[in-house]
Amino acid sequence: MPQSILRPSKDKPMPQTDFGFTRIPEEEKTSRVGEIFRRVAPRYDLMNDLMSAGAHRLWKRQFVASLKPRAGERFLDLAGGTGDITKLIRATLQKPSPLEGEGRVRGLNEPTGAEGAPPILLTDINPAMLLAGRDRLIDANDTSGIAWACVNAESIPFPDMSFDAVTIAFGIRNVTDIPKALSEIRRVLKPGGRFFCLEFSRVTQPLLAKAYDSYSMNIIPKIGEVVAKDRASYQYLVESIRRFPDQERFAQMLRDAGFANVAYENLSFGVVAIHKGWRV
Ligand SMILES: C[S@@+](CC[C@H](N)C(=O)[O-])C[C@H]1O[C@@H](n2cnc3c(N)ncnc32)[C@H](O)[C@@H]1O
Repeated sequence: MPQSILRPSKDKPMPQTDFGFTRIPEEEKTSRVGEIFRRVAPRYDLMNDLMSAGAHRLWKRQFVASLKPRAGERFLDLAGGTGDITKLIRATLQKPSPLEGEGRVRGLNEPTGAEGAPPILLTDINPAMLLAGRDRLIDANDTSGIAWACVNAESIPFPDMSFDAVTIAFGIRNVTDIPKALSEIRRVLKPGGRFFCLEFSRVTQPLLAKAYDSYSMNIIPKIGEVVAKDRASYQYLVESIRRFPDQERFAQMLRDAGFANVAYENLSFGVVAIHKGWRV
């Protein structure tokens, strides 16, 4: 009698995926990534500044400037971590628009949608990351316009066509099933809504690429070891950057998920890239 009849499940190969440079069963990735971000949460913001010499702040500013948030829109920030993108969107909405006259500031203090929900929903799969950012905002009495929720980008618990814009910054490469997340993102966008993704990508200048490669593979894990006492987590972070698809391949994944007008722009010679797609 064939083995497959005796032990059907044992004979089936388990689907595998990348966890940095290691191959692991797909079903383990979400919890292993979760463990990494639980560990890095307390020092996440400090480590970002150290590892990128502050460049992540400029990239995030450029990302939100390119998103062009407008008053009255609803935003979903996925894998939002400690809330940098959410705070920048809010800051943009707080700026008085020259079109609004008499210095009136629309967008934050006026409810959007029938339920009057805050316009920006900051979400992450990992409560430790969300809480690290939320505590700071609560301590500063600075929570206006923001709501929080634990959300897995692969199964977004909101109805179809709920948001004008969905963002994800430095988050998509950590997601186990990226096509599933992209399909979910498109589903929750309103027609005409936009998806903006900021992620590490491929450096386009060969000399710079070499220097960057050496820096990220040798120095970043060392900074993790010395500052956060956690070399392994930062080793994963740099390896996951290497494994993430380049600009063109990721753009194609957006098209395959049904996004229209897909485009990308490189920042810092492709160290990071902003990908954009629309639901039409
Ligand atoms: C590098 S941090 C980025 C945080 C923030 N967006 C920023 O730019 O500073 C990556 C985040 O992705 C989150 N993440 C990983 N897998 C996720 C998933 N399946 N759904 C939602 N968030 C996820 C992690 O918990 C972590 O907070």
